[in-house]
Amino acid sequence: MLEIVFTDGRIGAKAVKIFGLAEGAKFNSAALHSDELALVKKAISQACFNGKKGTFIEVFGAQGKIIVAGLGEKPDALGLQELGGSLVKKLFKDCVACYYVENIKGCKLSPEEIAHNVAFGLMIGSYRFDKYFTRKKQEDYPSLEQVIFKVKNSAKVSEDFRDFAALGNAVRYGRDLCNEPSNYLTPEVFAADIKRLEYLGLEVEVLGKKELEEEEFGLLLAVAQGSVLEPKVAVIRWRGKPEQEEYDCGLVGKGVTFDAGGISIKPSNGMWDMKRDMTGAAVVVASLKALALQKASVNVVGIVGLVENMPDGGAIRPGDVVTSMSGQTVEILNTDAEGRLVLADCMWYLQKNYNVRKLADIATLTGATMRALGSEYAGLFTNNDKLAAHLIKAGEETGEKLWRLPLSKDYDQQMDSEIADIRNISTNPNAGGSTAACFLQRFLKVKHLPWAHLDIAGVDDETKGKPLCPKGATAFGIRLLNKFIRG
Ligand code: BES
Ligand code: MN
Ligand code: ZN
Repeated sequence: MLEIVFTDGRIGAKAVKIFGLAEGAKFNSAALHSDELALVKKAISQACFNGKKGTFIEVFGAQGKIIVAGLGEKPDALGLQELGGSLVKKLFKDCVACYYVENIKGCKLSPEEIAHNVAFGLMIGSYRFDKYFTRKKQEDYPSLEQVIFKVKNSAKVSEDFRDFAALGNAVRYGRDLCNEPSNYLTPEVFAADIKRLEYLGLEVEVLGKKELEEEEFGLLLAVAQGSVLEPKVAVIRWRGKPEQEEYDCGLVGKGVTFDAGGISIKPSNGMWDMKRDMTGAAVVVASLKALALQKASVNVVGIVGLVENMPDGGAIRPGDVVTSMSGQTVEILNTDAEGRLVLADCMWYLQKNYNVRKLADIATLTGATMRALGSEYAGLFTNNDKLAAHLIKAGEETGEKLWRLPLSKDYDQQMDSEIADIRNISTNPNAGGSTAACFLQRFLKVKHLPWAHLDIAGVDDETKGKPLCPKGATAFGIRLLNKFIRG
């Protein structure tokens, strides 16, 4: 993994030199020799380089490569992270680079914050999932090993980077889980991986099939019935405020390790994407990992339902009626609407056993939300306006954006069954994101508990590759939830 270092000391001559330039600003740097400075200035004027965001200029001086990166007009934290991410490509063939951190004109961020955000961008932008290649050549791998940030007061800057480094590690861990194929990341392997996080001071409890039966996870077990793999549920607690009994927040994640649809089987084209139907769970687990690494002073409890949705001979049938942990009966009309079943029992279990001030669930839940919002925004459904505002703001700040979609009585009524308490798909094929959310809402023990449901079906997969995420899993939500929980 790429090493990030902060120093006020001397920089080796071999390091690529990187400078940021705000749009419209004049380039100058005391870190360059006069001949190099003249060279860079000349290149800037010849190329009419004006510091526009996302543009770069590269110069080869007597000592090696110099990069000037355009920062745009008033760069914010997210813009600087993206800049860090874009540097990954620029430095692919280099070994060591040094970013000379200087005040940016018109920017409110301190040099320390500038360094932190660029470094964080490098950390998550350099993420790769390449463990299954066996024939790749050396030159196909990045040679970049270390990026040094030249700052004042480097001891403090390093120390303060801890929270960012923790978050960066958590994002990389979350993406690893999401990219892992379903034959490797089974519910059992996933649960064992979560259990290992106890070394960080997290409390982890894993429930196997027997415990799930005793605890009456009726809906989750109904989904699991169609697979030969044993389902698991993991409960993960971070108690950073041990003197407080209550939990500040409860998190629930959908961990369907593969969603074939069950008897209501999905079309084969694109079915492979359903290996990522456990992103919600990965995000919950990684979020708790981040809090533990940060030693955050909050109490958070997470629960993830780990199960595979397959069409085995023992699978549930469309038309079956199953009793949930809450006691409410559910008519299962489409076995492909399995995520809400898994979440409902997990939500109930969490509320039954823990005193939580607010509750958020996160899931790759509906194609409808994906079609409504594409990959720009995740869907937000909530019974609480304050919670909505708080989450939307955290989304804006982290670039993991949310758009609120409605819950309503009418959508809720469409979830009434003719022969049981609830049906698992709506009577109306439209507004599938909202009706799914209304299904979940029926599993709040206390109606007014501030609760939010995040539907990440459209944003869990990066198809083109972006500065902060290569093609593949985004693990959307880790940065957002960290900001939300920590304020
Ligand atoms: N995991 C899918 C939702 C999904 C679709 C995630 C596309 C990512 C990309 C979910 O379990 C599902 O199958 N939902 C159905 C529900 C329908 C049967 C009511 C859907 O949205 O089509
Ligand atoms: Mn499904
Ligand atoms: Zn699913």
